[in-house]
Amino acid sequence: MKLNKQISESPFDPSVPRSIPMVSHWIGTWEFAINRRLRAPEDLASQYDAASGSWSRTARRFQLETAYRIPLLACSAATGLADLRPASRVLDCGIGTGCLSIALNNILPDPIVYHGIDISRAMLAAADVEMRQAGMSPQLQQADILSIPHADQSFDVVMAAHVLEHFLEPQRALTEMIRVLKPGGVLFVCMTRRSVFGTLIQLRWRTWAATERQGVAWLRDCQLNNIGYQPVSLGPCAGQASTAFWAQKPAEKLGRSRIKHFVPHEESLP
Ligand SMILES: C[S@@+](CC[C@H](N)C(=O)[O-])C[C@H]1O[C@@H](n2cnc3c(N)ncnc32)[C@H](O)[C@@H]1O
Repeated sequence: MKLNKQISESPFDPSVPRSIPMVSHWIGTWEFAINRRLRAPEDLASQYDAASGSWSRTARRFQLETAYRIPLLACSAATGLADLRPASRVLDCGIGTGCLSIALNNILPDPIVYHGIDISRAMLAAADVEMRQAGMSPQLQQADILSIPHADQSFDVVMAAHVLEHFLEPQRALTEMIRVLKPGGVLFVCMTRRSVFGTLIQLRWRTWAATERQGVAWLRDCQLNNIGYQPVSLGPCAGQASTAFWAQKPAEKLGRSRIKHFVPHEESLP
């Protein structure tokens, strides 16, 4: 598998983002910001390979299936997500051990085919076990979200939980996810938000902790409709440490999404 390089090789090109914003604070006209270089994709894949053995325990500790179920139901009420038929196709990007797909499967009346991609081979192996135990027959593939190995407009639902925060420019991953989404299809993403727990995640994984405004702005930039969001509670230890966002791809073709370059901090949003 070819992993996409996110970090510029050039010593200094101000148009290319090189680091993820961690902390920012304005005092008058001064912005104090701390950014951090993200992990290289190969490094991230091996980190997740190493974490895969205990990921199911982590998922249980943070009650991920229940946590995802609540916003999935809210998304369903807004978009008709639960109307999926057996022929419908769902893609879970950065599937990990399959918690998000299992949560969706548990609220749907009919069994459907779940496709999943992940950069970590060990996570995919764990997803296969967990999803089969839940009575599902997943189609799993090692792949990078920045180049999803599926045709344009081939999925009814494309989703990702706690993955987009790993990208220098989450909009690039969103654009690729929207490419494979059918017109009228539903996008569902969950991201760590700014909180004490979010900061711990940032320190451990060098990720974004996005605000609701940022997430909505990214979805608007992708020209999606019917945008909604709600905080996600990850159990008593972490509290409302994430936000779930959902939106629909317009039924009519609007052309390629505009990618706005890098929104470093909430304050820079229009
Ligand atoms: C925090 S885990 C979340 C797993 C799962 N979605 C969940 O909610 O339990 C992030 C997952 O995204 C995967 N991942 C990270 N970067 C990726 C990329 N560029 N392409 C595909 N998967 C990626 C990791 O290997 C890991 O399995």
